[in-house]
Amino acid sequence: MTIPAELVHAIRGAGHVVVLTGSGISAESGIPTFRDAQTGTWARFRPEDLATPQAFRRDPETVWAWYAWRRETVAEAQPNAGHRALAELERRVSKLTLITQNVDGLHQRAGSREPVEFHGNIMANRCFAEQRRLTDDECLPGTPPRCRDCGSAVRPDVVWFGESIDESVLERATTACATCDVLLSVGTSSQVQPAAGLAELALSCNALVAEINPASTPLSPTAHYCLRGAAGAVLPQLLTELKGTDE
Ligand code: APR
Repeated sequence: MTIPAELVHAIRGAGHVVVLTGSGISAESGIPTFRDAQTGTWARFRPEDLATPQAFRRDPETVWAWYAWRRETVAEAQPNAGHRALAELERRVSKLTLITQNVDGLHQRAGSREPVEFHGNIMANRCFAEQRRLTDDECLPGTPPRCRDCGSAVRPDVVWFGESIDESVLERATTACATCDVLLSVGTSSQVQPAAGLAELALSCNALVAEINPASTPLSPTAHYCLRGAAGAVLPQLLTELKGTDE
């Protein structure tokens, strides 16, 4: 894979780089992407039927059990070369905003400082009634646990289908995309709104946009560059090129 020299040059000279990641970046850590078929016990369920407030109201036990299983997968996973390359990229450019649609926390574990967690974090809990984040001490054991304060069911602190993105999170993400010089869209199918609109926003504000994904997406026709490969291979290579031009 050849990394275009113009892209390396643009990243090097950028005042602000935005990286938008999706589940593809964690695929090489063994976390299946959202559109991959589920395995084992959960093969007969579709995420779209479990990750909704309606599903949680209807059958909180099943939804909680699904999240408990996903939390185990995330806890066992390790950040990969793609996550690590982005953490290093953050230290090499003047300013980098990392926006992730992933809820697995692998960017932070790889050393990224303050990613914008667009869809929340699977390890965190929230009171279903009060909608506030709860510490472990504030949760009473159960399937699902109960809020110590109001007795309501506890849910994972993630954005479910049909729910809106936290306002301050959306504001931070849109401001970054409207003002960046370069945006890298990594491992996302660019199909789920409003996240998919972020790269379009950057394009409309004249940023240079590059997609890193083995497959084409609705963003591909308008992106300036499409680097067809796995994030764990392409991102370290991009970093090597960047270091080469630094020295
Ligand atoms: N490196 C880079 N990209 C990859 C890799 C890899 N190793 N493996 C797969 N991909 C790409 C796929 O080609 C696909 O385009 O990752 C993308 C994964 O797409 P989705 O599963 O749709 O994930 P994502 O775009 O993150 O979904 C967005 O949708 O279901 C909701 O909330 C969920 O955050 C999720 C959101």
